[in-house]
Amino acid sequence: MAHSTYETPVYAATAAMPVRSHIEMHTLMGLLGDVTGKSILDVACGYGYYSRALAQRHAARVLGIDLSESLVGVARELEERERLGIEYRVLDVFDAPVLGAFDVVLAAWLLPYATTVAELEAMAQRLRAQLAPGGMLAGIVPSDTPDLQRNYTQYGMTVTAPDPPGDAAEYDITFHVEPPFAIRSRIWTLPTLERALVAGGFRDVRWVPAQCSPEGLAEFGREYWEPMLTRPNLVFFTARTK
Ligand SMILES: C[S@@+](CC[C@H](N)C(=O)[O-])C[C@H]1O[C@@H](n2cnc3c(N)ncnc32)[C@H](O)[C@@H]1O
Repeated sequence: MAHSTYETPVYAATAAMPVRSHIEMHTLMGLLGDVTGKSILDVACGYGYYSRALAQRHAARVLGIDLSESLVGVARELEERERLGIEYRVLDVFDAPVLGAFDVVLAAWLLPYATTVAELEAMAQRLRAQLAPGGMLAGIVPSDTPDLQRNYTQYGMTVTAPDPPGDAAEYDITFHVEPPFAIRSRIWTLPTLERALVAGGFRDVRWVPAQCSPEGLAEFGREYWEPMLTRPNLVFFTARTK
């Protein structure tokens, strides 16, 4: 069973990083489009970064699940402070019962926690089981071709992986926030991920490159975003149920 190698609310400090809002949030929300009235399961929700954004965009139901009690604790505290009607549960994706027939299942940075192809396929099956027919899976994974020379220090993070990384390569990402901390997961090549998603019951797997918000371009300039837009450390995807 795949388990997170960290259990720290410090991860919530990444919300302030421009790369999260101007690249991650911007690209993912663009992929999801109008979520008004939709039911959404945010798997591996962490501190609820995306759950909150989806509720603010008028999703009808948002349920966030994560195996980390401490991160779900942070998510619940944020919900207490600003009530958006989000429900959070501490659950491992492998053990979670069917929680609904969701229109959208989000898996932002979940798949890299699989340690074997069998676990990847099992994750895909578990995600598929939560979707209504015709529902959409969307997510983020580490790029299988990160720029390990230039790296991503200007965005407040550094990645460490074998060069070139292959399937199941250990992938460490250090966030230079206060205090700095690192997360270990794995890189899976896109063909392996796609095969696992199809084996798990998905079709139409689409890989989408990182995009920067107009506000991010205006604030930081094109040169600042160039490494992230030409050799990003992440890839977005969507898939449909078979
Ligand atoms: C890098 S964080 C991303 C959190 C959130 N999706 C975001 O983008 O802010 C990865 C999350 O995956 C969770 N996770 C890892 N393996 C999991 C599993 N088997 N079931 C549920 N959550 C898992 C970790 O606890 C962690 O919160």
